[in-house]
Amino acid sequence: MSQQITLRDAMRTLNLTRDGLADRLGVSKRAMDSWLLPDDSNEHRSMPTVVERFIAEILHSGPKSTQSVQSRSSVAGSAHLLSVEQFSRDSLEDLFRLADQMQPIARRQKICRVLEGAVLANLFFEASTRTRISFGSAFCRLGGSVCDTTGFTFSSMAKGESIYDTSRVVSGYVDAMVVRHPDLGAVAEFAQATHIPVVNGGDGPGEHPTQALLDLYTIEQEFSRLNKLIDGSHIALVGDLKHGRAVHSLAKLLGQYRGLKISLVAPAALALPDTIANLAARNGNVIESFDSLADGLAGADVVYATRVQKERMGGEVIEGYSADFQLNLAAVEAWCKPDVVLMHPLPRDSRPGANDLSTDLNHDPRLAIFRQTDNGIPVRMAIFAQLMGVADQIPHSLREPAWRHPHQVGPDDAGFHTLD
Ligand code: NCD
Repeated sequence: MSQQITLRDAMRTLNLTRDGLADRLGVSKRAMDSWLLPDDSNEHRSMPTVVERFIAEILHSGPKSTQSVQSRSSVAGSAHLLSVEQFSRDSLEDLFRLADQMQPIARRQKICRVLEGAVLANLFFEASTRTRISFGSAFCRLGGSVCDTTGFTFSSMAKGESIYDTSRVVSGYVDAMVVRHPDLGAVAEFAQATHIPVVNGGDGPGEHPTQALLDLYTIEQEFSRLNKLIDGSHIALVGDLKHGRAVHSLAKLLGQYRGLKISLVAPAALALPDTIANLAARNGNVIESFDSLADGLAGADVVYATRVQKERMGGEVIEGYSADFQLNLAAVEAWCKPDVVLMHPLPRDSRPGANDLSTDLNHDPRLAIFRQTDNGIPVRMAIFAQLMGVADQIPHSLREPAWRHPHQVGPDDAGFHTLD
């Protein structure tokens, strides 16, 4: 295991920031920073073996065992991934530990074929770019193959076929399914008709569990860089909190953390449903509602903006989502902390009048949206590895690729690792 993975594992398990771990180990913060840097960075240093042994000792004497990544075919104890409600804090941390192990593959430094011979069906009955492609890419990067179908028009559902029949038929052809469907609960219906793993890629206004998992993983990564912990932090959720399934799943997951302040920033007509707010309010988390950005953003460590889900409103006219709600550079400069992390599940609506997250923040390093989308790969790989029962094989199955990938993916990006 690489020293960065070991250190991240130790921080997560002991719930310590990087400075906190340096203190615990009795080493300087500078040394800790240099050990956490990527191997190809000039300032990277190797962690002494004695420190590595000390960490192993601390982890083994700790309250929970951290080393095992389950090999059974389940994610958070279930054969399917339908809702974030199936996760505990421990199963979240297990998944993120595995996602860390997937990073070298996601970053194209290693290749892996543990899913060789397996086939995934990506069944998307609603619009999608990143979710469908990143699920497909994650499966392929573990050595599997992918069959895609998009929209109702070209599927037999247009001929009146039931979910039961579709699910059973497809199960005979493939080894796992990802389903996105416009109806709440439809993906669970797919799962009831099959014994192969089914992953919820978004069920109407219900849940989008894998998006929320990659969001939380991104918050954890950004906080590791900023020397912060999720417990005790302040997260602002902004926009269409009523219909946004990604923010529904994220709010539920935040309820696994302790002592959070969660600001809900939305006009009354787009407020987060109470049932979800109650799940977010577990563990002493404090929930406050605001109907203006100026009040809602102050002091937040993370601002998570969302798109107004017009397609789910059935002609309902929403009052109050005016230009004042747009998260743009001026708003961030006026009301946010200098080290705020700006997130969005994407897509953002960049058409005039949409008042969604502005493109004028594109060059701002606080904008984490593309680091967030990149994290869709390691997190979805970790989910497949758990569901297909190959998680424990990952460390022994890594090989060098024969090809090269650009270090910096987009023109405005920092390199994959520069922000670690
Ligand atoms: C979200 C979705 O489809 O729920 N997008 C995504 O999958 N990243 C958010 C949205 O559509 O606004």
